[in-house]
Amino acid sequence: MAVVGIDFGNLYSKIALTRRGGVDVVANETSNRQTPSVVSFDGKERAIGEPAMNLFVRNSKNTISQIKRLIGRKFKEDDVQNDIKKGYFPFNVVEMEDGGVGVTAFYNGEQVTFSIVQILAMIFQKLKLTAEMEAKTKVADVVVSVPSFFTVDQRRAILEAGEIAGMRFNRLLNETTAIALNHGFYKTDFSETEPTYVAFVDVGHAHTQASIVQFNKDKLTVLAHSWDRNTGARDLDEALAEHFAAEFKEKNHIDIYANKKAILRLRQAIEKVRKVLSANPETSLNVECIMDDVDVRAMVSRAQME
Ligand SMILES: Nc1ncnc2c1ncn2[C@@H]1O[C@H](COP(=O)(O)OP(=O)(O)OP(=O)(O)O)[C@@H](O)[C@H]1O
Ligand SMILES: [Mg+2]
Repeated sequence: MAVVGIDFGNLYSKIALTRRGGVDVVANETSNRQTPSVVSFDGKERAIGEPAMNLFVRNSKNTISQIKRLIGRKFKEDDVQNDIKKGYFPFNVVEMEDGGVGVTAFYNGEQVTFSIVQILAMIFQKLKLTAEMEAKTKVADVVVSVPSFFTVDQRRAILEAGEIAGMRFNRLLNETTAIALNHGFYKTDFSETEPTYVAFVDVGHAHTQASIVQFNKDKLTVLAHSWDRNTGARDLDEALAEHFAAEFKEKNHIDIYANKKAILRLRQAIEKVRKVLSANPETSLNVECIMDDVDVRAMVSRAQME
């Protein structure tokens, strides 16, 4: 029986195995150590993770993503309504009977409503399978990290999804604590007498968290933590999307924001560009057939993005 840790992300989830005295993040079927937190319903098929991400544009209405924003929430909450208004969900988000959040998708010839817990359970099942293939044994005990600001309802919904996925969730660990633990685990040169103070900043897809942690030789204490629930890398992406949309309007005479699939294509390309810019001062953004058979291309520099 293997013990695993899950980092459930708004964009990507990761699963790690404890073994050989260390922690190994497990690679999925496409050798990636992170799996898109995405489920796509395509005809009679249900795709989860990488194959679902491949359907993100073609089957956008039936491809469910960003469920960390929706898990354990009420449909009428401001955060949920604002995300819907901003157009972050290309799929249909609905209110469930209990006031919670659901999504609809065309599956098996009919329109089906799924609760967010059900969707998350599918993602957990997929991660479990990935870990079991690697460990060649059943997954037993699981620790899942969640944002420190998650409410009791959000935490409860995650436990419920774990139960449906057939996993025994030992505990939910705050992401800020998980990051600090990881730091302390691999760093062995803390002073015997003096405490070491470290600040951690985690810019996630849709939120940002920061913490100050005190490390002593055999102990860590989270002294303070803070967060912004609604600001993350996707806001950078959106600012870049607006910038490029304006550029392409002038240069290519197309209105990206008038075409839902074009926005999705642009957002995907921007995420790649942003990652390239972390390691390079400049790169180019290219999208073939973004809309109306038009190919677009633009240069972008790190200085420009900043
Ligand atoms: N090397 C990189 N350079 C720039 N941005 C990156 C890099 N790697 C990841 N990102 C971006 O950082 C953001 C957060 O990535 P992460 O994998 O933590 O997302 P997540 O865990 O799914 O989100 P969250 O933590 O908000 O739930 C994403 O928008 C991702 O595109
Ligand atoms: Mg994350």
